[in-house]
Amino acid sequence: MELFIDTANLKEIEEFSKTPFIKGVTTNPSLIAKEGKSQSEIIETISTLIDGPISAEVTAEDEEGMLLQARKLHQIKPENIVIKLPMTTAGLSVCKKLHDEHIPTNVTLCFSLSQALLAFESHATYVSPFLGRLDDNGWDSAKLIEEIVKVKKNYGYETKIICASIRSVSHVETCALLGADIATVPYKVLKKLISHPLTDSGLVAFEKDSAKTKNV
Ligand code: E4P
Repeated sequence: MELFIDTANLKEIEEFSKTPFIKGVTTNPSLIAKEGKSQSEIIETISTLIDGPISAEVTAEDEEGMLLQARKLHQIKPENIVIKLPMTTAGLSVCKKLHDEHIPTNVTLCFSLSQALLAFESHATYVSPFLGRLDDNGWDSAKLIEEIVKVKKNYGYETKIICASIRSVSHVETCALLGADIATVPYKVLKKLISHPLTDSGLVAFEKDSAKTKNV
């Protein structure tokens, strides 16, 4: 399963751009708003840091407005920019139009199997089911991911499943066990993926013991 970083913070992206395991970035209007710069400025800088898919979201609600924003954002770096579209009738219609223009898309705010099916049928490049927000509201996010993966396999859809709204290490592990294609993970959770208390105590013990022997 590939890992993306879910943030618009340039320092966080720069830090993880140096690792071998971060393959892309997802942003959304709320993440962009925290940074105090325009979306275009932020996306432009991200595209200098990461050579992989970078999702930038349209904010217009009508088809014409979405298409205008999408084409403009895509121009920032055509080989990397993915257009994030809302799970609405207009969003799905724009999804098919952008597919025909060879512009990759990420249909976001997916909370049900039927919504994922519509994204598959609209030729989305990616669909983003939101785990954390489902669990926060009493739904079972693992069941949804299992079902979306099954339907994708049943019909051979090429849309990649990006598990989003990740809140914990266990969310990431569950997505990998269930066969999701990608998890987009916030900075704090990425940090936790790397660490384990037994790794830390093991390193301290090895360091202490190596001081007792001669350097190789
Ligand atoms: C994904 O693309 C979204 O940006 C993100 O995962 C939303 O997460 P949240 O529910 O923590 O806001």
